[in-house]
Amino acid sequence: MSIKTVITGIGHFVPPKVVTNFDLEKRMTTSDEWIQQRSGIKERRHVEPGVGSSDLAVAAARLAMSDAKADPGDIDFVIAATLSPDHYFPGNGVIVQAKLGLGPVGALDVRDQCCGFIYALSVGDQYVRTGTYKKVLVVASEVQSANLDYSDRGRDMAVLFGDGAGAVILEPDASGSGRGILSVHLFSDGRFVPDLWMEKPSPKDNPTFQERFFSEGKFFPCMDGKNVFKNACQRMPEAVMAGLKHNGLGIEDLDVLIPHQANDRISQMVARALKIPEDKVVRNIHRYGNTTSASIPIALDEAVKDGRIHPGHLVGLTAFGSGYTWASALIRW
Ligand SMILES: CC(C)(COP(=O)(O)OP(=O)(O)OC[C@H]1O[C@@H](n2cnc3c(N)ncnc32)[C@H](O)[C@@H]1OP(=O)(O)O)[C@@H](O)C(=O)NCCC(=O)NCCS
Repeated sequence: MSIKTVITGIGHFVPPKVVTNFDLEKRMTTSDEWIQQRSGIKERRHVEPGVGSSDLAVAAARLAMSDAKADPGDIDFVIAATLSPDHYFPGNGVIVQAKLGLGPVGALDVRDQCCGFIYALSVGDQYVRTGTYKKVLVVASEVQSANLDYSDRGRDMAVLFGDGAGAVILEPDASGSGRGILSVHLFSDGRFVPDLWMEKPSPKDNPTFQERFFSEGKFFPCMDGKNVFKNACQRMPEAVMAGLKHNGLGIEDLDVLIPHQANDRISQMVARALKIPEDKVVRNIHRYGNTTSASIPIALDEAVKDGRIHPGHLVGLTAFGSGYTWASALIRW
């Protein structure tokens, strides 16, 4: 009997501070109307100073561990996805390991931006299916709010992003129930790096931190929104179809689709391209904005807890982001 990886616990955490579009109107030339029309976002969460993405990760991980009835001593591997780690190095994996009081287990950092959760899931899935580890913590967390350009120059980015974290516990299932991760498909095209990136700091510059980079806004993330939009609308449906085809399934077999919450218009376009009814598509961007790697596990947790996802459901995850990277995962819940 082949081993499948099942998600036995899930949790998410967002910081309590709500930042509405009206709050942002006070900081830059924008409007609630513009933001809602272009992205569907009404509000997002921002951390208070001093709170890092590892703190959000730990809060989400504790909930996932409790859901899986796993004690810190049970976790035998950590995979932490983020583009906003507490430090340049080391990554968040070891910080999460220490803050949770886990044993001296391996801690891997994944840096695939908005695809971070699915990429991390793919790694955890391999370890579990090969029998290497029995309880893997996969956690995705972001603090974007601390490094956005809240002037008019950076308003396209600043209104979109929010802070949050989501986590799952992965375990083997050899019962033959059919439950678990059916497949993960990962893609990239690095020709588009400058379309969505934070160019500096870069060790290519010596010294790395130069005054002019500050004044030029190079330490802020920036993007070519239109190109990102266009590619996201194309690549996410392709990734979902690759997963369905691999499993001999069709779009009608999909019960729930969770696209990365990049922009509500993108999620609608993805639904349209796949010809999947919108009520099968989980969308919560209006409350959280784009939380990058954390958006899928946050939405997944909400959909599980509010009863939209039932045992036996076929759940599709798909993401697109900086790199470009894009991905899909199919899970029999
Ligand atoms: C950013 C995005 C919402 C912009 O929407 P858009 O439909 O391309 O924007 P439009 O062409 O209608 O408008 C652009 C104009 O709005 C302005 N604008 C940008 N941000 C603004 C804001 N927050 N408030 C008001 N105006 C804004 C621009 O300066 C530009 O003005 P100009 O025409 O005078 O030069 C959209 O491109 C997008 O969502 N892209 C994908 C982003 C994404 O998902 N990134 C993460 C991927 S993981």
